[in-house]
Amino acid sequence: MSDHTSHKLWGGRFSTPSAAALESLNRSIGTDYRLWPFDISLSQAWAVALWGAGVLTLEESKRIERGLGVVGQKLAAGAQPLTSDEDVHTLIDRMLHEEVGDIASKLHTGRSRNDQVATATRLWSIDACTKLDASARSLQQVMLDQAASLEDVLMPAYTHLQRAQPVSAAHWMLSHFWPLERDRARIASASRAAAVLPLGAGAIAGCAFPISRVLLQGSLGFTSLSQNSIDAVGDRDFVAELLFTVAMIATHVSRLAEDLIIYGSSEFGFVQFGDAFTTGSSMMPQKRNPDALELARGSGARAIGDLATLLATLKGLPSGYNKDLQDDKRVLFDGVDTVLLVLPAVAGALQEIRFNAKRMRAAISSSMMATDLADYLVEKGASFREAHAAIGELIRESEQEGCELDALPLSSFKSAHSLFGDDILDWLDPARSVARRDVPGGTGPTAVAAQIRAAREALWPVNEIARGNELVLRAI
Ligand code: ARG
Repeated sequence: MSDHTSHKLWGGRFSTPSAAALESLNRSIGTDYRLWPFDISLSQAWAVALWGAGVLTLEESKRIERGLGVVGQKLAAGAQPLTSDEDVHTLIDRMLHEEVGDIASKLHTGRSRNDQVATATRLWSIDACTKLDASARSLQQVMLDQAASLEDVLMPAYTHLQRAQPVSAAHWMLSHFWPLERDRARIASASRAAAVLPLGAGAIAGCAFPISRVLLQGSLGFTSLSQNSIDAVGDRDFVAELLFTVAMIATHVSRLAEDLIIYGSSEFGFVQFGDAFTTGSSMMPQKRNPDALELARGSGARAIGDLATLLATLKGLPSGYNKDLQDDKRVLFDGVDTVLLVLPAVAGALQEIRFNAKRMRAAISSSMMATDLADYLVEKGASFREAHAAIGELIRESEQEGCELDALPLSSFKSAHSLFGDDILDWLDPARSVARRDVPGGTGPTAVAAQIRAAREALWPVNEIARGNELVLRAI
């Protein structure tokens, strides 16, 4: 059924009502309703700008601004849209009419929903960046706390998921900290990308009234003005940048989740999951399933899909605004919402995990010190290639004997290379292996202590994401 009576921002040129099927497809209120706080702010700023341009009297501008304030209060108190409201801009326009009467019709002078929605979406994105930063930071804090308690715990590090070399467990934990630190730099950059004001671009060619875009920029907290109105209404790079950031966060968190899921299996037994972030099985009473971590891993797929969907939407568009862009918000909201659900759940799951230092230490076999043995020979004067070959021979022998390197008799070492001396067993000690790797960024104790200090500094002080000089121009 088409709705003849619904409040519309357009329609004068049409003689018959739109088809119900079009209205259903066209309606975006279900998605963009949540833009309302930003649409209210930008509309209030626009009312002031219209006064500045001589389009509204001061009295009119104040009435509209106050009316929008009341609409905002009603929405905050839970006022719901009608099914006939096309989008959030139409909803607010309708409610403003109900509040201040016909004068509300003057507000849309010189603006279009094209620059309006771009502005509201940018404001939403800037706000989302603040939330993402806080959430990512909280997870990093949990990692840092866990790392501080794991400094002296040794575990195998894996390449190709094969035991490679021993490391401090703190070093492993912090290997998941730095990716999130890079993500936080991406969040700040995505926030800066969003902070370019499109308002004043109108539908495509710019506003014909002498509004001050500089005052709009300041009052809404943007850092600069869009330079080209055609670009301004069709530019969704900031959405793509935020979705890429979100996809990277989801990818990083997924890799952490995967490590923990593997380490929590009975075969590894490195970690024990807690009660609050795991579930049981309806059939197998012994089960404890790391659902939070698995859902985090699964959510990565959705976040990546959101980015891919947006890029696919953008790539074929002609310049300017096209209605395809209405769907940018579906993926933007989904990607950000997903990661904002995942981050605290993973932080909680990690916080309650108990590490089993004994199991981690027991998983280190002496063969993992093969590189140290090669280094030993190098220090005694052998070339690395020669040393590598000698250790290879010893490994082969230990495999044939079905034992670890440290179970081979000293005579085997001495016949593999004449430079092997009686001190060789010391070199098979994992603590020694770890201590030798004390270059900055390595797993040695001084390096890990410095890394923990650097991680602490990265989180403190809390860096506010830079915005514009918010002037807060409230004419009331
Ligand atoms: N709901 C629309 C969107 O989200 C608002 C812009 C509509 N513009 C238009 N010319 N119909 O993109």
